[in-house]
Amino acid sequence: MLRISPLRLLGFQRFCKVSPLEPSGPRQYCLDPLSFREDACNQRVFFTTPIFYVNAAPHIGHLYSVLLADALYRHRRLRVPSAAATRFSTGTDEHGLKIQQAATTAGLTPAELCNRVSAQFQQLFREAGIASTDFIRTTETRHRQAVQHFWEVLKARDLLYKGLYEGWYCPSDECFLPEAKITRQPGPSGDDGPVSLESGHPVSWTKEENYIFRLSQFREPLRRWLRGDPQAITPEPFHHAVLQWLEEELPDLSVSRRSSHLHWGIPVPGDDSQTIYVWLDALVNYLTVIGYPGAEFKSWWPATSHIIGKDILKFHAIYWPALLLGAGMSPPHRIYVHSHWTVCGQKMSKSLGNVVDPRTCLDRYTVDGFRYFLLRQGVPNWDCDYYDEKVVKLLDSELADALGGLLNRCTANRINPSGTYPAFCSACFPSEPGLVGPSVRAQAEDYALVSAMSSLPTQVSDHYDNFQIYKALEAVSICVRLTNGFVQRHAPWKLNWESPVDAPWLGTILHVALECLRVFGTLLQPVTPTLADKLLSRLGVSATERNLGELYFLPRFYGHSSPFEGRRLGPETGLLFPRLDQSRAWLVKAHRT
Ligand code: MSP
Repeated sequence: MLRISPLRLLGFQRFCKVSPLEPSGPRQYCLDPLSFREDACNQRVFFTTPIFYVNAAPHIGHLYSVLLADALYRHRRLRVPSAAATRFSTGTDEHGLKIQQAATTAGLTPAELCNRVSAQFQQLFREAGIASTDFIRTTETRHRQAVQHFWEVLKARDLLYKGLYEGWYCPSDECFLPEAKITRQPGPSGDDGPVSLESGHPVSWTKEENYIFRLSQFREPLRRWLRGDPQAITPEPFHHAVLQWLEEELPDLSVSRRSSHLHWGIPVPGDDSQTIYVWLDALVNYLTVIGYPGAEFKSWWPATSHIIGKDILKFHAIYWPALLLGAGMSPPHRIYVHSHWTVCGQKMSKSLGNVVDPRTCLDRYTVDGFRYFLLRQGVPNWDCDYYDEKVVKLLDSELADALGGLLNRCTANRINPSGTYPAFCSACFPSEPGLVGPSVRAQAEDYALVSAMSSLPTQVSDHYDNFQIYKALEAVSICVRLTNGFVQRHAPWKLNWESPVDAPWLGTILHVALECLRVFGTLLQPVTPTLADKLLSRLGVSATERNLGELYFLPRFYGHSSPFEGRRLGPETGLLFPRLDQSRAWLVKAHRT
């Protein structure tokens, strides 16, 4: 795993010279961000992904961003099943110089490029089982209306002024850069040209009259917000990084471009000679999808959790909250930040030719297999490296062998000929450890398993709340290992159903193991929905018994009745997850070519 400090990667870009054209000095805004917490939002939660640029086809990094949000959304639906309480949006970011230029290079109109690539994202997300409740395209009318309304509100609050902007602009990154962030590098023609120090993308000198947002006024309110809500940006190192940036001066921000230069965007209301800056346009998508400026949006804002990559932290943790405060709204409830995927140790890029196509991966490893891999291996705090062998190894060991093997062991006809959820015998496994008696068979480690399993759902929920989904999966995987150890230790295959001494204990071993499997199936639903469905169906768990509210582990051990005891198992539908290494031929071939 590559450990890169977020602070190093997120060098804060200070901006260039801005000279106000209007003499009216800035009005001071003493906003208290925490006072904006509307209670209207009560139980509602709204998850968002970044909206994806349509200049190129989706890669595994994009899929990872959207999968994290999908898993959070699905986990929340397991806690609060009502569809009316949770929303999840994703979409495509279709305006700006980057798209305008990509369309020219591809010999297409911007609209043609947007339609083509947006469709690719939508298809990928459908194939990957993304359960979003809205897909927004910034070229939609509802979005233009929302952006223009938002602009008018800022204008009415005297937060926009006309000024002369002078500095470097990087179209690929759609951002302004100070001189200190520029270097020179040979371009395609061999001549040295100015590029962004961080991304290596070309920059050009811009000097034009633009609308400027009074960002500088929001430094203090932003600091108060972050100090008052230490989890606002999670994980913590990113929260810390933003507070560090706010130690520095925060210059005003240019929020429009000359339309003669940038025509592919939303015009500034009342001034067609200017186009709204693509980041202001893009960020407002989070309001468009909840019905802004209609009254409906107030029941979803600020109960919003943004899931974003670390490269766009500054836009979400500084510009966006400042714009919201400026428009009289609260900052979002949470900003969950993740790191990046590299490929065989290198940054993924078209020019290096190492971009990993997510659709190929979904085909090779199955949808659930690849979802599990990305979420189990992706660590928000650090970059993660991708290579094919790693996927095969992980899926074979955790899904095929450990989980699939466990299910197979407990349901196979040989060991469970009645095809039922056998009875639990309290005399064999008393709730109090250390008891001795002729029927007692449970050992100290078995009590450790029950204890680990009983706390697993809460542990998993805590990891979701802290945006550590990989830890939730790790906790499940540890318990799968413990359960396999339990079965191995008691070797039920050596016991005999015909023996009155063996039978109650044999039934108890299987009952406990099936209970563990039921918990695993329930907890894996947000990450591997199809595989979890197969597992729960095999156990005979009905659709109404799959929520977290229903998840009582081993009630018989605690002296309660179990709705599963004696129930028929569901039909046998083959291996839960077939091993991949038997079909490694393609891997070997891929490496030879
Ligand atoms: N359009 C902007 C976001 C606007 S949100 C109002 C954008 N788009 S993007 O397509 O470039 O990136 C979308 C997301 O993909 C970001 O969260 C980014 O961090 C993520 N990823 C891009 N490359 C990635 C990896 N190599 N690995 C993981 N995620 C990466 O930025």
